[in-house]
Amino acid sequence: MMVTETSVESTCRRMREILRDVVPDIELRYKAELVYEINRLKQERHAVILGHNYMEPALFHTVPDHKGDSLELARIAASTEAEIIVFCGVRFMAETACILSPEKTVLLPSDKAGCSLAESITAADVRALKQRYPGVPVVTYVNTYADVKAESDACCTSSNAADVVRSFDTDTVIFLPDEFLAGNVAKETGMRIIFPKRVDASSSDGLGSNVMVGWEGRCEVHEKFTVQDVRNVRAQFPDVEVLAHPECRPEVVEVCDFSGSTSAMIRHVKESNASRYLLLTECCMGDNIAVENPDKEMVRLCSVRCPHMNEITLEDTLDSLRNTRYVITVPEEIRSRAARALNRMLEVRPPIAAAP
Ligand code: 13P
Ligand code: SF4
Repeated sequence: MMVTETSVESTCRRMREILRDVVPDIELRYKAELVYEINRLKQERHAVILGHNYMEPALFHTVPDHKGDSLELARIAASTEAEIIVFCGVRFMAETACILSPEKTVLLPSDKAGCSLAESITAADVRALKQRYPGVPVVTYVNTYADVKAESDACCTSSNAADVVRSFDTDTVIFLPDEFLAGNVAKETGMRIIFPKRVDASSSDGLGSNVMVGWEGRCEVHEKFTVQDVRNVRAQFPDVEVLAHPECRPEVVEVCDFSGSTSAMIRHVKESNASRYLLLTECCMGDNIAVENPDKEMVRLCSVRCPHMNEITLEDTLDSLRNTRYVITVPEEIRSRAARALNRMLEVRPPIAAAP
């Protein structure tokens, strides 16, 4: 939506055009007032709003200047000229923006927007792994805090994890902290996966070849989806196409039709022509896709939600711009080391497909 809407009435009319199938009219009027004020203040303060694909539809389709998955938003955060970045996402994403654009003011609308994966590992854990497996490169998922990134050789997201692993000229890698993403990437790269907590520490001599060392972090949303869920939905809707985020269990990804980052899933629905889709990921994304693909039916499993992403509301986004909060900062000594790992990731490009 353009930031040039001239009144709450025109904002409301425009929102109704886009959102009429997913947001009831009585709520639209109330939300239009917030949207109008956010977009007005955004211009006044020379701010840019970045919105992750999991934001609720009335926010996602109205206030972000840029929308996307973790990788796309990290690239935009690194290159924006705005003075203020308001990150409508979770803390590790805002921290990433701060690490890549240290001269900007980075705001996160809620101080409660964490992530179970980021909570699953500490910098001390990474140091202990490096001591146990000296010389083995450490690839860390961006869903971690800055001090963990600072201990790593490279970061990755769900859209480039296998390419980042392959970019190291080695056949052993430490991949942290998501157990299931690691399992999916190990499968894709032909590696065997081991978990240090399940291996006797005294037998750590020599990992052998083609080995990935994993960690037992899990996304509290994606770990809940099961193979039986997929079977049940397919029994009810035989024509359904099932898409899974790579944070889902490898055995779930195995029985799905497509797996990719949040943006890859959005593109897949746009470009394919099934009549029905089931997305094994945060439920709001189904609503956001439905808005842009009114001819395609999204089957919802909305009992599974990300409590952290859902902390970010239009009210908090307005408050964030009005009162300059919550300001995200990273100490320079940690920031500069974390920036090295993030920049190494940004330099990795997917391999160019061979000509047919
Ligand atoms: P994406 O990088 O695919 O957007 O995933 C972020 C995330 O937190 C998924 O749960
Ligand atoms: Fe973290 Fe999972 Fe929420 Fe993504 S969906 S922010 S991985 S808890």
